[in-house]
Amino acid sequence: MRAEEIRRLYVKFFEERGHKEIASASLIPENDSDVLFTTAGMHPLIPYFSGLEHPMGKRLVGIQKCVRTDDIDEVGDAFHHTYFEMLGNWSLGDYFKQESIKMSFDFLTGVLGIPAERLAVTVFGGNEQTPKDTEAYEIWKETGINENRIYFYGMKENWWGPVGETGPCGPDTEIFYDTGANPCGVNCGPACECGKFVEIWNNVFMQYNKLSDGSYAKLEEKYVDTGMSLERILAVSNNLESNYETECFYPVMEKIKSLTKAANPQNYTREYRIIADHMRAAAFILGDGKKVTPSNKKHGYILRRLIRRVIRIIRMMNVSENILPQIAEVIISINAPVYPELADNREFICDQLNKEFIQFGKTLTLGLKAAEKLFSHLAPGEKLDADAIFRLFDTFGFPPELTGELANERGIAADMAGFKKRLADHQEKSRRAQ
Ligand code: SER
Repeated sequence: MRAEEIRRLYVKFFEERGHKEIASASLIPENDSDVLFTTAGMHPLIPYFSGLEHPMGKRLVGIQKCVRTDDIDEVGDAFHHTYFEMLGNWSLGDYFKQESIKMSFDFLTGVLGIPAERLAVTVFGGNEQTPKDTEAYEIWKETGINENRIYFYGMKENWWGPVGETGPCGPDTEIFYDTGANPCGVNCGPACECGKFVEIWNNVFMQYNKLSDGSYAKLEEKYVDTGMSLERILAVSNNLESNYETECFYPVMEKIKSLTKAANPQNYTREYRIIADHMRAAAFILGDGKKVTPSNKKHGYILRRLIRRVIRIIRMMNVSENILPQIAEVIISINAPVYPELADNREFICDQLNKEFIQFGKTLTLGLKAAEKLFSHLAPGEKLDADAIFRLFDTFGFPPELTGELANERGIAADMAGFKKRLADHQEKSRRAQ
């Protein structure tokens, strides 16, 4: 099954059930937002989860470009990304758990043909403030999912939102695909990280509004927010072992392999994946039309981190020329038919990648000199303090992870936790100054 077919079937399925299609919003949230990027399909809809009427009605469907940095350390495995496409359907005070779960089940089994016995689902198990979701549990049983495939978990696994500190949120039910791998132990289940279960879809039942004092007020209406990663459902529907084997990534991975020319490509799977993922996120952020550029602040800082991590990896692979624009070209050509803004901003994307490559080269040369000077005053076993790491970062844009690695090589400890705190204080100060 092709990506375009899944997109089309998804929208059609929900249109046939009374939903209206909404276009993807920008990756940079329009209104004042607690978070830098659009992290889920529901993000641009937040005002409509608090009573405001949406001009297109109470049932919506859409595909949203998303960037999440929470998962950045997981990138390199089979299924996590910083940028991904989220297929979503929403009920704004219309249907609730019964219809939502039934539609998800019918789409997966009826339209995509995934055998029901390959599914496992999780349901909110309750806590002191909010009850166990027995309603969702009963509905899943009615669909025919065996009760030993329905798992109750706590807030960490089965509660979603709010985006930022306050706002609409609620218990969710997550749908997993069982890869068929052997269980990793007696307690193996969707919450464990062994890879047997891949989360494909999350149905959130927005019933609460989290307030600034940390309490949960009941929302007047009930809302549904669902989200499914296109990349994952594409991999699962095609029986592929990772998202990187799907058409969203495969040509990018091939291009990276041919440009980096490693003698033993099988040793670099993780590196290729990180390059492909981060370059895709960078291309989409640069190509969003908001003219975000690499910098030391806010969106620009995330963008810079993504691009510089790629540059560091390719340098580590002994590639000194700038191959970033060539990788970006492949990403643009795969995605421009659906996201034409990438083609419209092609020149800007490549130009910024070139500039950052040159800038980072200078940074590395100057920063390395300054770092060497600092290390020359320290003996193995001594500690590089947070202020020194921060100065290297602030003055030269020298990546703190690199400072940490250099310290490590010399047997010197680096106060990374102190640095993180110092950076957060600095960012908070510059935010307030705006
Ligand atoms: N907002 C939920 C999530 O991101 C469902 O889309 O998982």
